[in-house]
Amino acid sequence: MIRKVAVLTSGGDAPGMNAAIRAVTRSGLKMGLEVFGVYDGYRGLCEGKFEKLNRRSVSETIAKGGTILGTTRLPEFEQYETRLLAIEQLENYGIDALVAIGGDGTYRGALALSKMGVKVVTIPASIDNDVGGTDYAIGFETALNTIIEAVDKLRDTSSSHRRCSIIEVMGRNCGELAITSGLAVGAEVVICKELGFNLEDVLENINQASKVKRHAIVIVTEKMVDINELAKAITENTPFESRATILGHVQRGGKPTPHDRVIASLMGAKAVEALLEGQNGVCVCMVDNKIIVRPIEEALQDNRNTVLEKYNKFKMLW
Ligand code: F6P
Repeated sequence: MIRKVAVLTSGGDAPGMNAAIRAVTRSGLKMGLEVFGVYDGYRGLCEGKFEKLNRRSVSETIAKGGTILGTTRLPEFEQYETRLLAIEQLENYGIDALVAIGGDGTYRGALALSKMGVKVVTIPASIDNDVGGTDYAIGFETALNTIIEAVDKLRDTSSSHRRCSIIEVMGRNCGELAITSGLAVGAEVVICKELGFNLEDVLENINQASKVKRHAIVIVTEKMVDINELAKAITENTPFESRATILGHVQRGGKPTPHDRVIASLMGAKAVEALLEGQNGVCVCMVDNKIIVRPIEEALQDNRNTVLEKYNKFKMLW
């Protein structure tokens, strides 16, 4: 029987995390549960940073970016001894179940905890949209909007100066932000892990673009190429002068979009429902526009390449 539930956010923050915390809290309270917020992710869990939440604790949070609970990356959580500290704290507070909101790293920690006997449900949140098992992770659309707003502005100045703008976006190992923003802004070139990088092809595309327009846009996923070097190569080998912009952490902030708020709210409520149904070691997912739960283990093994699927669908636009 579940009476007390704790909620935490872990890994990189994502806009919409607060809406998920709010939904877990409000739906938990509605179902007669006591709800505790854990500050600073798995680190706070190990250190016992718990606070009892009420309806008011999550008031006016739905429109806020970041996470009101704070977050950390804690690689040490892979160690059994570190997780024992977390379990000790959960027992100290008499917590019966945990909702962990985050990406793959959060999922691995949650799975390990569930194998040690803790009842856990996870909710996917990552601007990269790279969480296994789900078509959508909270925060992706807001980050996408931020990128598009920035690129639209860069296009104005690029076009005025007859330049090529290179924009580096986040995504770690996943090109979904790059491909989707590339589609949305009509980029000449997208460079990401899934599509690869070939300098000659890039120069050819930019040279072609220079014949018909006053600017070109290149979107690159972080860690793929040195964008300043790329800008130099474009300046030297095409009619366009080039400038490089790294968007960086600005992509992680800002007010969540309505879509992120709604999906996060639905997912938060689903997490509580799943716990009350006796589910454990599961993650909330969006599959074919439905919110479902499936085993975390299965989600972590999911390597569907939805990014390439999306790219192939729109390839004729490039
Ligand atoms: O996972 C989200 C993300 O923003 C990635 O896109 C990026 O590579 C990483 O986090 C950056 O992490 P940090 O904020 O720890 O530098």
